[in-house]
Amino acid sequence: MKLTPRLEAVADLVSDNIKVADIGTDHGYIPVYLIKKNKIQNAIAADINKGPLDNARKEIYSNNLEDRIELRLGSGLSVLKLGEVDEVVIAGMGGVLISQLIENELEIAKKLDKIILQPMQASSELRKYLHKNSFIIEEEILVKEDFRIYEIMVVTYDETGKRQEFIEDEIYYEVGKGLLKNKPSLTLEFIDKKIKEYCKIIEKLEGKEGGKIESKIYECKNKIKKLEELKNDVC
Ligand SMILES: C[S@@+](CC[C@H](N)C(=O)[O-])C[C@H]1O[C@@H](n2cnc3c(N)ncnc32)[C@H](O)[C@@H]1O
Repeated sequence: MKLTPRLEAVADLVSDNIKVADIGTDHGYIPVYLIKKNKIQNAIAADINKGPLDNARKEIYSNNLEDRIELRLGSGLSVLKLGEVDEVVIAGMGGVLISQLIENELEIAKKLDKIILQPMQASSELRKYLHKNSFIIEEEILVKEDFRIYEIMVVTYDETGKRQEFIEDEIYYEVGKGLLKNKPSLTLEFIDKKIKEYCKIIEKLEGKEGGKIESKIYECKNKIKKLEELKNDVC
């Protein structure tokens, strides 16, 4: 079974011989891949919608894995009992929704050995939420698939409340500190994409008038300056 680079990178971050839940599983590719690769014994595949869960069911049955992967219909981590799985994957959803799913079942999330998150957008909001709620981003990677660069985070809960790194500037919510330490060429491409996005916003706003517009342009220019500076930290 061949996964796309994004899904393969997510699946490869799951630890060996643990029980995992894939929340928002849709097609069910991640749990099926993990079991076929003999990386794990059992999994839970969950989704809030019946259609996607039916997709997962088809994938699981066509691979004869119905005794190894349990299907659950429901929202986020609410389908899990406390301590029932070791690790959770939440991939392909927005960063704000992901943070809400964690917040809604905080006790379950805190007990997990690892949470693997792959936000499709609003990753800065997700990083901010994690930082403010004592979740540590242990590892961050980027994966390129076609023209898009995806961010993947490995997160744990810090019971001691002492491990959280100081965030000197909000820019580190946009480009996580962990990203500065690996795959330098992809990180630089990722930062350049962000710079281009801010340039486009400025282009659209220039020529228009109003205090709010001016402050937005100022904010974008400031972000570009900080992102340019960040490129010097990529190693
Ligand atoms: C874009 S798909 C991602 C599928 C797969 N995880 C991936 O990364 O390719 C998002 C899935 O999340 C599901 N979903 C959305 N909100 C959810 C929630 N609150 N709880 C569980 N699943 C949810 C959707 O039904 C959909 O199947």
